[in-house]
Amino acid sequence: MFPFQLLNIFLVASKVQEEDSKYDPSLYKRGDLLEVPRTLFTHFGIYLGDNRVAHLIPDILPVISRNKSAIAKMVTNSRLILGVIAKAASVRVDSLVDFAYGSEILVNHMDTVCRQPPLDGDEVARRAEKLLGSITYSLLWYNCEHYVMYCRYGMAISYQTYRFCTAVRKTVCSRISAYLTALFGVGAMLFLGSATPLTILPTLLVPFTIWMAA
Ligand SMILES: *[C@@H]1O[C@H](CO)[C@@H](O)[C@H](O)[C@H]1NC(C)=O
Repeated sequence: MFPFQLLNIFLVASKVQEEDSKYDPSLYKRGDLLEVPRTLFTHFGIYLGDNRVAHLIPDILPVISRNKSAIAKMVTNSRLILGVIAKAASVRVDSLVDFAYGSEILVNHMDTVCRQPPLDGDEVARRAEKLLGSITYSLLWYNCEHYVMYCRYGMAISYQTYRFCTAVRKTVCSRISAYLTALFGVGAMLFLGSATPLTILPTLLVPFTIWMAA
């Protein structure tokens, strides 16, 4: 049996953050695309107005808990990483502070990289709002980047995104591979202890990669 209760306590004990002037809502317009570095990849969100950001984020907590107030709290890194592994995610609304998780926010940076002009700000935000809720998250095929690309540029996911934003795509993909490598390394250390990782590594790496890519 998995110790859900203990895990819950661990996941909810979140990093305390102060309100910060760099997250002043007057700096952003409805429909703006916000970017923040999050663990090893870039995280994206759409600003809805009134200090609310819609974003797609991996999160394990809705899978193991029904406590709505605990789920509504900011998604900690441990919740995020376990969410990636379990392929559970939701499109949720958070305040600027919770969304940024202590990092600087970049605004509409994609507009300079993509050839496709953005949709009208209100339309962008309406699209973002329509998709709120739980979804199955697959790191490679439906991630937070696809979500904001659909909302802001109205593009069909996948090939078009790839064509228009090759540069961005490359960064995201190489960061994802770095992330997977790091994640796997930690997993190997935790689960194998002092066993000989070099012999066991390939045996675990192949199924893990297939699971993550599916
Ligand atoms: C739900 O979570 C909140 C905040 O994390 C906590 O204070 C409360 O006791 C929890 N309720 C239940 C029923 O576990």
